[in-house]
Amino acid sequence: MRVILDERANSLACGGTLSDDLLADLYAVPGSGRWLRATMVATIDGSATGADGRSGSVNTDADHVVFGLLRALSHATLVGAGTARDESYRALEIDTRWVAMRAAAGLPPAYPLVVVSRSGALPEPLVHTAPPGRVRLVTCATSPRLDTVREALGTEHVHVCGGAEVDLSSAVAELAAAGLTRLLAEGGPSLLADLIAADLVDELDVSTAPTAVGGTGPRITHGSASRTGYALGTIVEQDGTLMTRWVCPGSAWS
Ligand SMILES: NC(=O)c1ccc[n+]([C@@H]2O[C@H](COP(=O)([O-])OP(=O)(O)OC[C@H]3O[C@@H](n4cnc5c(N)ncnc54)[C@H](OP(=O)(O)O)[C@@H]3O)[C@@H](O)[C@H]2O)c1
Repeated sequence: MRVILDERANSLACGGTLSDDLLADLYAVPGSGRWLRATMVATIDGSATGADGRSGSVNTDADHVVFGLLRALSHATLVGAGTARDESYRALEIDTRWVAMRAAAGLPPAYPLVVVSRSGALPEPLVHTAPPGRVRLVTCATSPRLDTVREALGTEHVHVCGGAEVDLSSAVAELAAAGLTRLLAEGGPSLLADLIAADLVDELDVSTAPTAVGGTGPRITHGSASRTGYALGTIVEQDGTLMTRWVCPGSAWS
């Protein structure tokens, strides 16, 4: 893996091969406050899913390495219920490659998954196999499954934020109050668009996989996410996969 551009750290020689330590430095979360980083992958022709309708078939080895690192640098993953269902999410584990780095950074070994859903319809296996406290739900008061999901996950792990709709700003604030200040939003396109529309995304990390799939696959946002003025911070490349890091308007590296 090599750095093509790094706007922040002059110490990282562009073009040089990256060790895991340097890669972790490159992706360090700026500051100690709240930071919401979103990560998505797309093909060269802009599809967020492969021919099978899932993003897993677009991911590459290089993208997996950075994806694992981003989790290891975060307090929790935030994901839309559609992605949790389509991609068969289970309780998340930190990639063994990054466990020591995470411990050295003072982050807890257990890694919670926070699912956002109006309906409260979580995948059954996720609810029934996750260790206590490893899955949280962000939902709204009209969710028809509120009682069931509270019983399954524990009331303290169900965040009711909003009446008929989820208020994402309240949700992010409530998660921060629970100690989850560094969030990694893993999509999908609907949740990402809503997070951008609510001005909650500080950093957008987009990988471009060296494939084209044609078809009518979704883009990485679906909804009203119109924003200009993203600042390009980092470009990393391996085997044709380009990994870019954009700072969102209104956010700063430090
Ligand atoms: N390329 C990538 O990096 C990437 C990443 C992730 C996913 N994907 C792909 O994206 C596709 C899924 O797309 P999607 O747009 O349906 O995904 P999504 O945003 O994960 O799921 C949509 C569902 O999530 C919940 N949700 C999202 N935003 C919400 C909000 N603001 N408030 C309340 N609930 C909210 C709702 O769940 P309820 O219906 O339960 O209310 C909604 O129906 C899959 O094919 C997946 O493979 C691609």
